Amino acid sequence: MSGQPATAGKVALTGADRCRAAGCQHDAVTARPYDQAELRRVFGAFPTGVTAIAALVGGAPAGIAASSFTSVSLDPPIVSICVAHTSTTWPALRAAARLGISVLGAHQEQHSRALSGRGGDRFAAVQWRATSEGAVVLDGASAWLDCSIERQIPAGDHDIVLLRVHALDADAAVPPLVFHASQFRRLGV
Ligand SMILES: Cc1cc2nc3c(=O)[nH]c(=O)nc-3n(C[C@H](O)[C@H](O)[C@H](O)COP(=O)(O)O)c2cc1C
Repeated sequence: MSGQPATAGKVALTGADRCRAAGCQHDAVTARPYDQAELRRVFGAFPTGVTAIAALVGGAPAGIAASSFTSVSLDPPIVSICVAHTSTTWPALRAAARLGISVLGAHQEQHSRALSGRGGDRFAAVQWRATSEGAVVLDGASAWLDCSIERQIPAGDHDIVLLRVHALDADAAVPPLVFHASQFRRLGV
């Protein structure tokens, strides 16, 4: 309901007052306390795809899994990701001239796990290729983009990273991997 005051008889009521008068739990809904686990649960109700953000670092592929990928602008072509300040791989990726963004296919769930895991060679079981400028993209992905960082904007405990798109392609025959409620899923159609 709107928060605008409304006159009922001689009393000016706010939206919350009207709700209470109608017996609804307005305050209970809007003022419920929440913690980080609750934030994760509710943020996770929004289904996303999963991408691999990767580049050659010192001649070897480095990368992370990221579900925060979003398209931003068509002209100029810009996409975004959000990266946690705690990422130990991002400082090296950020320094790369080009970043590859691969939209993982439904068959690449293990790649997502590998690219977010601690320790070990994240690319050991991943088929990948690099562009001449060092962007790394995964073979068999639903789509890939070759990007460079345009801007990095601090936002709480993450940075919003805006990336300029230089080249891209998609394979409609490869269904995407879906991440929802902390679980990997597939499209039902
Ligand atoms: C499905 C999935 C999605 C993820 N999305 C993001 C993301 O959007 N941003 C981010 O910073 N980390 C994300 N992560 C975590 C990173 O993949 C990685 O685990 C984290 O950066 C820690 O590794 P690092 O210290 O090597 O950077 C995601 C992990 C998974 C499994």
